[in-house]
Amino acid sequence: MKTLLITGGAGFIGSNFIRHMLKEHPDCRIVNFDALTYAGNLENLREAAGNPRYSFIRGDIADAAQVDAAMSRGVDAIVNFAAESHVDRSIDDPGLFVRTNVLGTQVLLDAAKKYRVERYLQISTDEVYGALGAEGLFSEETPLAPNSPYSASKAGADLLVRAYHETYGLNIGITRCSNNYGPWHFPEKLIPLAITNALEDKEIPVYGDGLQVRDWLHVADHCRAIDLVLRRGKSGRIYNIGGNNERTNLRIVKTVLAELGKPETLIKHVKDRPGHDRRYAIDAARITGELGWKPEYTFETGLQATVKWYRENRQWWQNVKSGEYAAYYEKMYGNR
Ligand code: NAD
Ligand code: DAU
Repeated sequence: MKTLLITGGAGFIGSNFIRHMLKEHPDCRIVNFDALTYAGNLENLREAAGNPRYSFIRGDIADAAQVDAAMSRGVDAIVNFAAESHVDRSIDDPGLFVRTNVLGTQVLLDAAKKYRVERYLQISTDEVYGALGAEGLFSEETPLAPNSPYSASKAGADLLVRAYHETYGLNIGITRCSNNYGPWHFPEKLIPLAITNALEDKEIPVYGDGLQVRDWLHVADHCRAIDLVLRRGKSGRIYNIGGNNERTNLRIVKTVLAELGKPETLIKHVKDRPGHDRRYAIDAARITGELGWKPEYTFETGLQATVKWYRENRQWWQNVKSGEYAAYYEKMYGNR
């Protein structure tokens, strides 16, 4: 039986990945290591909590002693989801992003080296490539040109992961995925914010002209891709992951409103995000060609399922929205 240390497993993608692995791989044991920041929520993993193959440790990836204590339990591979993940928050507090995303990754890499783990997988993002114009796609060879403190910290982490492979021979992989959506997505991000605000008949803030483009992928498809790269990806290799679902933000919000039968008068154009990347789009030919991955959800089926999940899990998002997030929302959008 293999033991995986999943860092950041109480967040959106990490919790979906833990559910996926427990279901698909009866031979794997999961240790979820998470600091439980505002974005970490053990409610996301209620169904895993009773599983004898699952355990949780509250800890900070930037704290070497805490990471060491977790590793000494015996870990075969590390999958690092832990990060500060919201671009708007990084504009307010870049230092926190450098600490968690860069320093935290380096602490994990040292532990991976010390304990000679079989594989270290870094969950990165397409945002490290910067922004595209109207044409073209990000390939794994696209030069890094991050524009926000968030994406710069993720790019820094990727370079450290690469260096530990080149210098120490660590078996590593890096995945760079486009925008995810799906269940348990924290409602500070566009799609869950739009769905939950619409369900409450509240305005939906759209930055600038709303014509920025993102390439959306259902989180379950991302998890299947990570599973493949973890088990079958080549060491030292980067894999782009994307859904081939380019949509403007305005179109996303209008689709959500139509799905919920709510009026477009709920759309409110607000001041743009500084350094706002205009367009992301992914060339996923490598993971498709080498590992046979392709998405199972279309954007339409994925969004319908997601809207249904938020309708049926009001308690989950109302709890999240009533906590410290309420103060964040007022600060971010109060005078915008
Ligand atoms: P999230 O914000 O929902 O979850 C992050 C998790 O990390 C939380 O559980 C939080 O408690 C934990 N965490 C934060 N700081 C920590 C620390 N110092 N030590 C231990 N745990 C800590 O993020 P997400 O959307 O699930 O993203 C997960 C990863 O995937 C991130 O690395 C992100 O950069 C990457 N990613 C996200 C997307 C997306 O669309 N959401 C797309 C591509 C890549
Ligand atoms: O591309 C992958 C990245 O996708 C991940 O690395 C990040 O962790 C994740 O947060 C996401 O980043 P984005 O900045 O693209 O996601 P966000 O949901 O914050 O915004 C999506 C788009 O919608 C972006 O163009 C900004 C816009 N937006 C966002 C919010 C929260 C709005 O117009 N209004 C909003 O209120």
